[in-house]
Amino acid sequence: MKNYHLSTWWIGGCSTKHNSIPGPMYYKGVYHLFYQYNPYGSTFNKTLVWGHSVSHDMVNWIHLQNALVPTNPFDKYSCWSGSATILPGNKPVVLYTGLDIKNQQVQNLAKPKNLSDPFLKEWVKYSGNPIIMTPPRGVKPDDFRDPTTAWKGDDGIWRVLVGGLRNNLGVAILYRSKDFVHWSLHDDPLYFWKNTGIWECPDFYPVSINSRDGVENSENGKTLKYVLKASFLPHDYYTIGSYDADKEKFVPDNKGLTGSRSDLRYDYGKFYASKTFFDSVKNRRILWGWINESDSSTDDIKKGWAGIQSIPRKVYLSTTGTQLLQWPIKETENLRQKHVTYSSKKLNRESLFEVSGITAAQVDIEVSFKLPKLEEAEILDPKWNDPQLLCSTKTARVSGQAGPFGLLVMASEDLTEKTAVFFRIFKKNKKLVVLMCSDQSRSSVRQGIDKTTYGAFIRMEQKDKMISLRSLVDHLVIESFGAQGRACITARKEPHVYVFNNGSLDVVMTTLDAWSMKKSEGRRGKINDIKT
Ligand code: FRU
Repeated sequence: MKNYHLSTWWIGGCSTKHNSIPGPMYYKGVYHLFYQYNPYGSTFNKTLVWGHSVSHDMVNWIHLQNALVPTNPFDKYSCWSGSATILPGNKPVVLYTGLDIKNQQVQNLAKPKNLSDPFLKEWVKYSGNPIIMTPPRGVKPDDFRDPTTAWKGDDGIWRVLVGGLRNNLGVAILYRSKDFVHWSLHDDPLYFWKNTGIWECPDFYPVSINSRDGVENSENGKTLKYVLKASFLPHDYYTIGSYDADKEKFVPDNKGLTGSRSDLRYDYGKFYASKTFFDSVKNRRILWGWINESDSSTDDIKKGWAGIQSIPRKVYLSTTGTQLLQWPIKETENLRQKHVTYSSKKLNRESLFEVSGITAAQVDIEVSFKLPKLEEAEILDPKWNDPQLLCSTKTARVSGQAGPFGLLVMASEDLTEKTAVFFRIFKKNKKLVVLMCSDQSRSSVRQGIDKTTYGAFIRMEQKDKMISLRSLVDHLVIESFGAQGRACITARKEPHVYVFNNGSLDVVMTTLDAWSMKKSEGRRGKINDIKT
């Protein structure tokens, strides 16, 4: 069950509301975050508005008036998700899904009232809305939403994707336009797959194959690959491939978006309905996701909010070209305060030590461990092909050979409540394979909250001598980045930080750096501004 409403504090992300992030963007020195917001309460309500917050660094936020609220026949019942596009001449516009007078999903256009206001406080809906009304054949009007950022081909034609469900196919429906107002359906969707359910919040963007810099959506060239992401089942799956604008064809390098375990995912924890944007001032692509609730809706009502946005992550293609890497934006480091550091510390088998001297409720911690030799690692049983399942059976308490070792975060004084983020090292075909787990099963003694354990495999290269882990802890949330961002896991829960080794082999912790983090401005958003 989705909880739609408000947000919380956040050291690096934004304090926002409900779920998906329609249209993050940068305009005239200001970062804008629009988000699906329920002004009437802290659980899901079909009538949502576009909340709007602005920031100079994506860390400290100012909350503005809502940008889009239901007013017209074309969005009478709700303003659902969508995206921003910067038109030539630095003119931002947004495309969004309205629930119209018949309660059907249609696509609408809006633009800022005053371009000289960098905060873009007021938005004007296009009088000719909806700009896309009738869904393609086989798509029900209830399954037709979330337009992407549009991109322009060399032929001067704009393209946009709308997510949907066509019969039993999840689809990224393609529309084209010369003027951004009149859109025509392209015969074939850009991509589809069977039995995935509806594709929500699609995203499609180029990535550079030889640089970590971001690429503007309309740029094309030989040194690019393309990422297609869709939200379903309920994860954010992505695939990398090539795109030919002339033939309007996207061909994934691997199996595509099938919703199976072999698909790539942005995050192997709680992370959904994400969106990227190109930050033209720092030349990077930023990814933002919605971290949905672990609490029950009764708890959400009591708290007055539910759901928060992740820390913004820089996202780029790995040098192997086979996956994306993600890393918290540099600006989060401005919140770092007191620093503790350790180096070359041996963690004896079955040992635990506390990282003291930091405020464990808000901490940024980076640790690296020496990888064992190939012959020391356990063989990965071919049956163990589901990392999440493996993490939930081989928990932090189950001793292995090389591992489990890692961090015990947000543990209560008596260690009854803890979340373990850890590695277990295996070998397969003469290569080390690292299982990264985030184990929430003992995160709280309370009942009725989500305590799922998450897992991901990280394939190591021969040159890798170390495995690193960075975790950003902000009271209720822990976002972890394994092996320089090759696998990410986000989990929710509560302080004290320990490093542990529960394997039968000793492990060398090569370095550990931890910083207490100060609070960011605007860490809490608007809570229940209209009480019902
Ligand atoms: C994603 C989503 C979108 C929709 C919005 C409604 O969680 O369901 O498809 O536009 O949320 O709030």
